[in-house]
Amino acid sequence: MIPVNLHRRDLAKTALFGAAAAAFPAAARAAAPSAQNNVIFTKDDPGHWAGKEAAHVPVATVAGGMLTVKTPHPMSEEHFIVSHSVVLDGGKYLGRAVFTPKDQPVSTHALPAGYKGKVTVTSTCNLHDFWLTSITV
Ligand SMILES: [Fe+2]
Repeated sequence: MIPVNLHRRDLAKTALFGAAAAAFPAAARAAAPSAQNNVIFTKDDPGHWAGKEAAHVPVATVAGGMLTVKTPHPMSEEHFIVSHSVVLDGGKYLGRAVFTPKDQPVSTHALPAGYKGKVTVTSTCNLHDFWLTSITV
């Protein structure tokens, strides 16, 4: 039974992760790292990429109303950071940066004037998936 106070977005998440969970046998789920079913990775929850955190978790800093996102990851044709994305409180999308192997994985984003709140940043590696961190400004 689905609680009546679930929002459509929560319902979609529930359905998505429910379907993903159903795809794996219970024994495998019990042994699996949590990492949101190995889809979204963080410093504290690196899932099956444990040991890769240092080079993949994006580092976010704010100075003078500008957000800087850096991923301390080497860049080569075979292995590189593909993109950063930035989302503010309430899911407000702020921006995205896309990289080639010749770029450095650093992006800057202007925050709305006087912004205070949570900033969530992501970094995507072409080999090691989707990493997330957040700060409060
Ligand atoms: Fe990587």
